[in-house]
Amino acid sequence: MSIAFFDSGLGGLTVLHEAALRLPHEDFLFYADMLHVPYGNKTRQQVLGYVIEAADRIMQENVKALVVACNTGTSVAAAELRRRYPIPVIGMEPAVKPAVEMNGSSGRRVLVMATELTLGQSKYMELVSRVDDQGIVDSLPMPELVQYCEALNFDEDELGAYFRRKLAPFDLKQYGTLVLGCTHYPYYTELLKKILPDHIRIIDGGAGTVRRLEDVLSERGIEGGGSGQVRVMNSARDPRYNLKLLRALERLRTQS
Ligand code: DGL
Repeated sequence: MSIAFFDSGLGGLTVLHEAALRLPHEDFLFYADMLHVPYGNKTRQQVLGYVIEAADRIMQENVKALVVACNTGTSVAAAELRRRYPIPVIGMEPAVKPAVEMNGSSGRRVLVMATELTLGQSKYMELVSRVDDQGIVDSLPMPELVQYCEALNFDEDELGAYFRRKLAPFDLKQYGTLVLGCTHYPYYTELLKKILPDHIRIIDGGAGTVRRLEDVLSERGIEGGGSGQVRVMNSARDPRYNLKLLRALERLRTQS
C-alpha cells in the first residue's frame, strides 16, 4: 500500500521529496489537481469541493495514509477529510510556530509567504494569535508564484525581480525568518537565499509534516512494505502533466 500525497499542482512534490528521503521503505502516490490549480485565488467553498473530489478519487487507489501536501487545501478541508475517511489524514500549516520560537529573543520579525486563501482563513489567524504573543509576524500573499512554478519557470532574473518587487516594502534588517507557507514556494529556496540578507533563515512546513507522518505510521503500525517507488496522477488524466510532475521531482532530487 502507498502513502498518497495530494496538492493542487507541483507544490506537494516538495513534501513528497522530503518524505521519500526519510522513508525509503515506503511507496508513494502523488495526485495533482491540475484541473483546478491554483487554489489560492479561489473561494473556500470551491476549494473544499475540489479537495473532496480529489480525495475521493485517491481513496479508490490502494493507499494507507493521505498527506494533504497543500497548506491551502488543509486550511479549508482537513477536518472534513478526517471525518470522511478511515485512513490517517496528515495536513500541513505554515511553520509559524517554529519561526516565532527561533526568533523569540532576537527581537527580529517573521515574514510568512502563503496564498491569499491560506492567509485569509480563520485557521491561520488563530494560529498566529496563539503563537505570536509579541506581535512579530507579518504576512505576504504571493498570488503569482504558484503560476510561475506551474510553468516550471525558475528563471533567476525574472523570478529574482519578482521577489525583489514583493519584498521592497519590507525593511529586511528587521526580519530573522522567512516562512514559506505554500508547498510550491520551496522550489525557490535557493534563489531566495541569494536575494535575502544572510541573517534571514528560510523555513517551510515540509520537515514537520514528514515527522508527523512518520509518527502516525508507527503509532498505527502501518510503516514500511515499499521500496521508494513514486507513481503520479492528475485530475485531468493528462500524461504530459504527469511528465511535468516527474521533471519537477527530478529537479528537487538533483538540487538536494
Ligand atoms: N501548494 C498549495 C499550498 O501549499 C496550493 C497553491 C495553490 O494552488 O494556490 O498552499
